[in-house]
Amino acid sequence: MAERPAVGIHDLSAATTHHVLTHATLAASNGTDVAKYHRGIGLRAMSVPAPDEDIVTMAAAAAAPVVARHGTDRVRTIVFATESSVDQAKAAGIHVHSLLGFPSATRVVELKQACYGGTAGLQFAIGLVHRDPSQQVLVIASDVSKYALGEPGEATQGAAAVAMLVGADPALVRVEDPSGMFTADVMDFWRPNYRTTALVDGHESISAYLQAVEGSWKDYTERGGRALDEFGAFCYHQPFPRMADKAHRHLLNYCGRDVDDALVAGAIGHTTAYNAEIGNSYTASMYLGLAALLDTADDLSGRTVGFLSYGSGSVAEFFAGTVVPGYREHTRPDQHRAAIDRRQEVDYDTYRELHEHAFPVDGGDYPAPAVTTGPYRLAGLSGHKRVYEPR
Ligand code: CAA
Repeated sequence: MAERPAVGIHDLSAATTHHVLTHATLAASNGTDVAKYHRGIGLRAMSVPAPDEDIVTMAAAAAAPVVARHGTDRVRTIVFATESSVDQAKAAGIHVHSLLGFPSATRVVELKQACYGGTAGLQFAIGLVHRDPSQQVLVIASDVSKYALGEPGEATQGAAAVAMLVGADPALVRVEDPSGMFTADVMDFWRPNYRTTALVDGHESISAYLQAVEGSWKDYTERGGRALDEFGAFCYHQPFPRMADKAHRHLLNYCGRDVDDALVAGAIGHTTAYNAEIGNSYTASMYLGLAALLDTADDLSGRTVGFLSYGSGSVAEFFAGTVVPGYREHTRPDQHRAAIDRRQEVDYDTYRELHEHAFPVDGGDYPAPAVTTGPYRLAGLSGHKRVYEPR
């Protein structure tokens, strides 16, 4: 049998929102010691969408540079992962397909399993590329994390999209077999169809996450995965950056290792840089961690990265990827830094207005105010249809 080609992430591009709320502002408005946010959960700011932004506009903004660099010819499939979907039937990826001018001969589908959906998309994409290595798959993870005002989860909101081009002979990360899987039926975080904000049992969700770290690692090692010492860094799903710290300590403990602060910082330190300023971006969050790692760490060529993807409810997967020599010529540190730095800071009252913003649902014509400076915008709702346009 012919040797299977290396398959993995060939390009990775992230985008976020027009607005940002700092945790200093949030803390001052609700009387919390800001150290709880900065040190306790590891967050400094959260991205807040403008009224003319959503998962589609962020996704298109993230994917546009990938299309500009690689074109659309080889992309036969677009997988859009989200847990903050804008429609119960139509895949949000079809709007992206249209905005970015993909050919009609493309498969487009949306995936959901809480924050795990992006990894499901990546793994499905890898399967498709193994079936036909001449094809590429565009995997987009895009989410707006939203909790009710005043709830403990409010401090862990945020929004971002990551677009990944998956193909054979990738330029960034070769994704390896095996994967370690874990599923448990828990109600730690969920969002019924009639709600715009998530429900969560915060402390239960942290325990469920840690149980999933253990379970997926156990399955990974039982299937012949690498030993702990072979990993140069770990990308964890980051609802807030301190969760990565908790997760890695838990893994070290589970493996019977000494838990040393420097060891933990060395393993996850670079992965938290973007998440700390963007907040939770659900499906995109672990891949923002990868973007930060590739953009900011010393040369990782040939190093193995561990990935722990967690989606409440819950499903987790642990897998390994090897960073491809020469990857630095293909990363996008300036683009990512600019996306974070150009956000417009809002005061608390403006944030509250944005948080409560909703279009009427009577099917009338409701143009969205023109606010975003991103490349794509939601023009408004008309006859119950969302209308998108380049800006
Ligand atoms: N200075 C420094 N640290 C402080 C502090 C201060 N003044 N005050 C509190 N802290 C620390 C606490 O000791 C605590 O740290 P430890 O966990 O190490 O003990 C940390 O700050 C948080 O404090 P609390 O636990 O008291 O905070 P909380 O009850 O307000 O809730 C939370 C925190 C549970 C994370 C809440 O923000 C939440 O519910 N978030 C949403 C749910 C979530 O993100 N869960 C994560 C796992 S689920 C998942 O990963 C899927 C997903 O994306 C949602």
